[in-house]
Amino acid sequence: MTDANTPPPAHFSDHQALIYAAGAFRGERPALTTDLANLEVRAAEKLDGAALGYIVPSAGSGSTARANVAAFERWRIVPRMLRDHARRDLSATVLGSELPAPVLLGPVGVQRLAHPEGELATARAAAALGLPYVHSTQASHSIEEAAEASGPGPRWYQLYWPRDPELCVSLLRRARAAGYTHLVITLDTTMLGWRPADLDRGYLPFLQGEGIANYTSDPVFRRRLEKESGAPDADPGTAGLLFADVFPNTGLSWDELPFIREHWDGPVVLKGIQCVPDAELAVEHGMDGIVVSNHGGRQIDGAIASLDALPAIAEAVGDRTTVLFDSGVRTGADVFKALALGADAVLLGRPYLYGLALAGRAGVEHVLRCLLAELDLTLGNAGYRSHRELTPEALWHTA
Ligand code: FNR
Repeated sequence: MTDANTPPPAHFSDHQALIYAAGAFRGERPALTTDLANLEVRAAEKLDGAALGYIVPSAGSGSTARANVAAFERWRIVPRMLRDHARRDLSATVLGSELPAPVLLGPVGVQRLAHPEGELATARAAAALGLPYVHSTQASHSIEEAAEASGPGPRWYQLYWPRDPELCVSLLRRARAAGYTHLVITLDTTMLGWRPADLDRGYLPFLQGEGIANYTSDPVFRRRLEKESGAPDADPGTAGLLFADVFPNTGLSWDELPFIREHWDGPVVLKGIQCVPDAELAVEHGMDGIVVSNHGGRQIDGAIASLDALPAIAEAVGDRTTVLFDSGVRTGADVFKALALGADAVLLGRPYLYGLALAGRAGVEHVLRCLLAELDLTLGNAGYRSHRELTPEALWHTA
């Protein structure tokens, strides 16, 4: 029971009241739609063909990306009544970090395709809400530039493990020095998947020098560039070719994980886990967490929907490691479902990128505030005060 004399604490759902009040008393409407599942349509009206082709479509026929979204549709929320949800708490402890909500901004590369300020705008928006910003190795801005934009905000670094060990160590060292606390190693992209939208244009941003800022600002990469081209500031095309040489790392195996431990003293999370055996291997190798993710369907066409992979993985290893989730999260209700199925926190991908495309930092903040408001309202209306109370019993699986 709530003490009638104590006002309830501020909730993320207050964002809803603010929108209604602005409409009622000032005749203002939100600059961007609050229908988060519809953001893609709006962003598509704004982005040019190459940017749209890189961001929105997925591998092959797009069937994995469709399956990701369809999997959320099949799980339905079962609301409970009369359970006093006046005081709700969305805070979460994720791998030792206290967060206002179990949501992170997942690693997304080449954000300058969406907006000129790219990752800097995203890092600022994440910091404004106190949510972790995960900086991609494929970013349009360097590790240090994004750290400066993130300021006091929490930040994690995502590694695409390059074939050159010296370059790998250099990237890790720079990330640690710039205040990134957690490391996410993306395992599902040791080489690029088959992406017809880019192939039909013959377009890969990296080969034009876009999305390789972490490399061109790196002393080890620059030394190699100088050796091969005669100058560390070679033209973008030459830098892109050297990148294309160091990026693919198809020989990687589980045996090499100790190398990362030697060079990173914070928590390490493996991204791209889609089955129980690999989740078990991650635990056996002493990893601190996993991200159940299929890269938003951008790597393997016809792959299992990430949400379909989640319950068995959470059941098998959830008590021994931190289970994060992404791929297909579009709304606050989707976050609710992933948490109920065993995720400790959720990484947002495309939706915040659409917000970035539409309105820069303000657009990313808009998406985050709307998503958290909807999560808060969904929790309360379904009869829960905290995501910690959620179990699979909060959901019904339709055939
Ligand atoms: C990504 N993703 C990604 N992941 C990663 O580990 N490093 C990266 O550089 C990128 N880059 C990237 C670019 C773009 C344009 C997209 C859409 C995605 C994958 C990302 O972290 C996440 O796994 C997916 O975005 C989740 O799928 P949805 O929810 O966005 O469909």
